[in-house]
Amino acid sequence: MGHYPPVSTPRRSVAWFGSADRDGFIHRSWMRNQGLPSDAFDGRPVIGICNTWSELTPCNGHFRELADHVRRGVLDAGGVPLEFPVLSLGETLMRPTTMMFRNLAAMDVEETVRANPLDGVVLLAGCDKTTPSLLMGAASCDLPAIMVSGGPMLSGKYRGRDIGSGTSVWEFSENTRAGKMSPQEFMEAEACMSRSAGHCMTMGTASTMASLVEALGMGLPGNAAIPAVDARRKVLARDAGRRICAMVEEDLTMSRILDRRAFENAIRVSGAIGGSTNAVVHLLALAGRVGVPLTLDDWDVLGRDVPCLVDLMPSGRALMEDFYYAGGLPVVIRELGERVHRDALTVNGQTLGENCADAECFDREVIRPLDRPVAPHGGIAVLRGNLAPDGAVLKPSAASPELSKHRGRAVVFEDIDDYKSRVDDPDLDVEPDDVMVLKNCGPRGYPGFPEVGNMALPKKLLERGVRDMVRISDARMSGTAYGTVVLHTAPEAAVGGPLALVETGDVIELDVEARRLHLAVDDDELERRRSRWNPPPPHSERGYYRLYVEHVMQADKGADFGFLVGKSGAPIPRESH
Ligand code: FES
Repeated sequence: MGHYPPVSTPRRSVAWFGSADRDGFIHRSWMRNQGLPSDAFDGRPVIGICNTWSELTPCNGHFRELADHVRRGVLDAGGVPLEFPVLSLGETLMRPTTMMFRNLAAMDVEETVRANPLDGVVLLAGCDKTTPSLLMGAASCDLPAIMVSGGPMLSGKYRGRDIGSGTSVWEFSENTRAGKMSPQEFMEAEACMSRSAGHCMTMGTASTMASLVEALGMGLPGNAAIPAVDARRKVLARDAGRRICAMVEEDLTMSRILDRRAFENAIRVSGAIGGSTNAVVHLLALAGRVGVPLTLDDWDVLGRDVPCLVDLMPSGRALMEDFYYAGGLPVVIRELGERVHRDALTVNGQTLGENCADAECFDREVIRPLDRPVAPHGGIAVLRGNLAPDGAVLKPSAASPELSKHRGRAVVFEDIDDYKSRVDDPDLDVEPDDVMVLKNCGPRGYPGFPEVGNMALPKKLLERGVRDMVRISDARMSGTAYGTVVLHTAPEAAVGGPLALVETGDVIELDVEARRLHLAVDDDELERRRSRWNPPPPHSERGYYRLYVEHVMQADKGADFGFLVGKSGAPIPRESH
């Protein structure tokens, strides 16, 4: 055992591999069965490659190859790469909703990283919830970490036009229900949309989160937009493998990057890209992990003066491939000038400003200059009032301007099953000026906080040409969706929030400019209704569902589990042998 050098470094992995006793024998011997040579245990940085590959997560289906490029980078830099799987969350298949499992995946990441001989970690994420879950879990360990996003799919192509993940699905679905598209055309479009490896290529939640990874300083420049199948994505992965070894030497931990400036930058960049409302929930949860004070109102205050500069679906026309060829996120960050903290540190050791100083734009229609924005307000509007005492959100750039100040009669659906059973009923009493209200789809009510807030309009109104109505719920919506949709209403109906008390026929007032959401029912009547209200029965008495429902916080707190807020670092746990 004499060839192992004396331990002179605080590196975590040495606590496993550095001793000449029985425990060291066990730690090394079993690892040797994978072909590790003796010098793998000589104190060099041991790097985890946290992989969310799964055939059940098609957006991350290319991650074994991507992980291999990270591995090469780690080896280039003299480190020891060790790839490991964590719970993967596939947006399109998991029921009742991937959001139900975001915190579970974060727990998996946190405990796996802490329990193993890792000095740093590269996080491979792509599909919507894989990004926040890995960031949250790793943040609670606070080791050096880089995220490598999987990259968007190539643009969808259907009958000579570009079509986008999600956004075009909603459009085609409504056109088919309205009789404007045949079922055959609908099926044909299905095969034309997802043409390559990668995640949704609209500015949905995955692209938003990949962009915010770069804006937070947690990814290398270019992380946001390089297409999944572009060779430069592989180079980025390899660079990340090289860089993480240096970060271990520099002890550049996540908490040194994720300070208040980083979150403010992310919120502003989210406004400039027309980012998904889901980012609100995920960033609040991440900030909670690293102890940065961040509130729902910060989203409104910081994003209010940020124009939407990126002309991408669902707020605009283009797709992520176009965004990358136009120059990608560094152009947006440079364009924002003093609106971002240019001195914020990033994973490559440079500041955000340094990373973007030389960014060039190659298509001014896709990435607009500040004086010619896609929309004057790209941020998230945080609404309050007697219907949402703890807040609700709306994405102005995806809403209809003529509905942003609206007064209408509520048409209430008590839960998602009620909505599905009645929405297309020809006898449903609903008019275009009404306000559709959906209850019991929040974190605890559904349970899991699903993306059903952009409820499809009643078929009979679609057939009349109606394309948008005010919709209000305690649910989320897909980042690829659009419309005048009020989401994340807190407290949610299932915990007795005022949303639970709304009845069909009530008048609701929405005023986005004034940030107001009001139920025009007098307080005495609301009190009477409250005295009659009963919470919905629990969905399950056992298992993860029970843990989730008992501990999930409300939307305005990021829907994390209360007991996961904060970080425990990565102390070396006691030996097991
Ligand atoms: Fe995976 Fe959209 S379904 S990113």
